[in-house]
Amino acid sequence: MREELQKIENETLAAVQSAESIKALEELKVRFLGKKGVLTLILKKMGGLSPEERPVIGKLANETRFKIESAIAAKSFELEKAALNQSLIAEKIDVTMPGKPFKLGKKHPLSKVLDEVKEIFLGMGYSIAEGPEIETDYYNFESLNIPRNHPARDIQDTFYIDENVVLRTQTSPVQMRYMQSNKPPIRIIAPGRVYRSDNVDATHSPLFHQIEGLVVDTGIRMSDLKGSLETFAKRLYGGEAQVRFRPHHFPFTEPSCEMDVMCFSCHGEGCRLCKGEGWIEILGAGMVHPAVLENGGVDSEKYSGFAFGIGLERITMRRYNLDDMRLLFENDVRFLEQF
Ligand code: DAH
Repeated sequence: MREELQKIENETLAAVQSAESIKALEELKVRFLGKKGVLTLILKKMGGLSPEERPVIGKLANETRFKIESAIAAKSFELEKAALNQSLIAEKIDVTMPGKPFKLGKKHPLSKVLDEVKEIFLGMGYSIAEGPEIETDYYNFESLNIPRNHPARDIQDTFYIDENVVLRTQTSPVQMRYMQSNKPPIRIIAPGRVYRSDNVDATHSPLFHQIEGLVVDTGIRMSDLKGSLETFAKRLYGGEAQVRFRPHHFPFTEPSCEMDVMCFSCHGEGCRLCKGEGWIEILGAGMVHPAVLENGGVDSEKYSGFAFGIGLERITMRRYNLDDMRLLFENDVRFLEQF
């Protein structure tokens, strides 16, 4: 049996040495050491040995098993290392190769200008308020001093959901909602989408954006309105920007006005950009009507305020010299990439 064991050892070690894969090693392991393996079969024959020989052969057999196991372990480590080296060479990464370009989106020009407007007003101590885009007739019109027969309610201009519910046509209802749930002093802007039943053309869209403003406190005067809005215009368009206020009418303010900025292109001379006016209108404003304050739960004897409404598309178009509002809504990346 000694010779037999020696023979198995020699053969197996040789086979292990020449094995070329982990799988081949596994097979060897089974063939020699497995339950029906060659070595196991030999050990089973040990019963026929003399009591003196048995421990000697048993020891020898264990040594053989140990040698084979060690050889398999060593070979398998070697093969794994080789496989790893192989794949490291095969999958080598060339860090100097140019990467795949990563397409990063950009902020929409409306968002950029809105961000600037927010910064300006936040810097003047305003906070930002919001209101629903689906509004009741009461908040959108009635509470703002726009009675049932007012032309602003014309079925042509307003998207009615039913008799009492509309898509808001202006951000002004946020003024009312804010007054009803907050006490003066109030200093807010309320940017958002508004809707009007207009056909799309270079200066109209059924969806556009406004930035509402409301200031209510004791002793607020027209001079506060003028100073605040002039400061806003100079921060947005630069210190050299010039503004003028023109009388106007809005049902929810008294007195009311519009603010123009001097045309940047012709400096008041009149040109194509300002349609020969020399000035460009950017917002409507006024002193909050006492009836509107009262609807908001504000004592109009004690408090006064001013309000304004800025057209975001309008100031964005002025800002980037765009002559067609549709550019802002078509979302053509060739246009958007330029900002
Ligand atoms: N809501 C007005 C509009 O859509 C704009 C406006 C004018 C808002 C004067 C105001 C304001 O708050 O005081 O035409």
